[in-house]
Amino acid sequence: MFRSKVAGVGSFLPEKVITNFDLEKMVETSSEWIIQRTGIERRHMVDENEGTSDMCVRAGNKALAHAGMTVDQIDLIIVCTLTPDYKMPAAACLVQAKLGARNIMSFDLNAACSGFVYGLFVADQFIKTGVYKNVMVFGAENLTRLLNYKDRDTCILFGDAAGCFIMTRAEENDPNYLMTAHAHAEGSLAELLWAKGGGTRYPFSQEVWDTGSHYMQMKGKEIFKNATRTMATACHEAMDAVNLKPDQIDWIVPHQANMRITEAVASHLDFPMEKIVSTVHETGNTSAASIPVAFDIAMQDGRIQRGQTILLTAFGAGLTSGSAILRF
Ligand code: UT7
Repeated sequence: MFRSKVAGVGSFLPEKVITNFDLEKMVETSSEWIIQRTGIERRHMVDENEGTSDMCVRAGNKALAHAGMTVDQIDLIIVCTLTPDYKMPAAACLVQAKLGARNIMSFDLNAACSGFVYGLFVADQFIKTGVYKNVMVFGAENLTRLLNYKDRDTCILFGDAAGCFIMTRAEENDPNYLMTAHAHAEGSLAELLWAKGGGTRYPFSQEVWDTGSHYMQMKGKEIFKNATRTMATACHEAMDAVNLKPDQIDWIVPHQANMRITEAVASHLDFPMEKIVSTVHETGNTSAASIPVAFDIAMQDGRIQRGQTILLTAFGAGLTSGSAILRF
């Protein structure tokens, strides 16, 4: 069995920004309420001519440059997303073509906001078993197109972004590697956060359009409660698996959903907030993209450094959850 490690990291945030003040003009809300309840100040929105795959390409090229690799070295592309460009084919196939890769396995993985942790877990299996050596794992979302900008419960929360890790086979005595990964789902709670219409169960129709059931709908309070409990449990699961205590973790990079969720997780774990990466004020919730984007921002500004021990934890629609610990 081999081990996998992170060879490169990259991310992309679209230039266009939606501020809380912009939202004040669309729904009955206030910047003060949004900041107090979520910590979010702005979120990014992809250009109307671009989509999920385009954001992936921008993040992916940065990750390749960071890894010092070229695309012809890549064996597998996984795009973790709930907002692919099209219903078919997979966004990963579009990313493959746009990056200039040819003939390699490419697929989408939908575990909503936990997608990136699921993706790392899957990539690790391919690398561990020696099937593949270099895997691009993307977390990418174009959520602004899944939002009803008349629904203040959801439209204030989410934004667009993409992030990418290049996972590679670690050398035998390399101290840096993906130490453990875990993933779960509690499907009985799926209706707490979903987009019911416009799929195959309720295909697009006048009724779907009139009721707006193709947009994301959420029971915010229940999701909030589940998120804090589940992310804290997932952190414990990962630390227990590799016998680490919270004081041996340099950074937690949680899914960026809401500052109050992050604070509650820190309090459950008795973990200092100064060692939790938070970028939610700048990005809003970008679902599967949020962990690699937050990771890249913290790496670029010098907080995250090679050799550190980093815990990732996520929670999302499904209801999915997951955690991973890597020595970077
Ligand atoms: O990746 C996982 C995805 N999901 C999430 O991260 C969401 C998790 N949930 C949350 O983050 C929070 O539940 C919200 C931020 C969505 C809402 O915060 P809350 O503290 O749970 O507020 P609430 O739903 O209990 O609403 C409190 C009040 C209500 O008014 P009344 O009934 O007290 O008069 C709402 O109608 O705030 C009102 N409200 C708003 N007011 C201004 C709800 N949304 C808004 C809004 N602006 N956007």
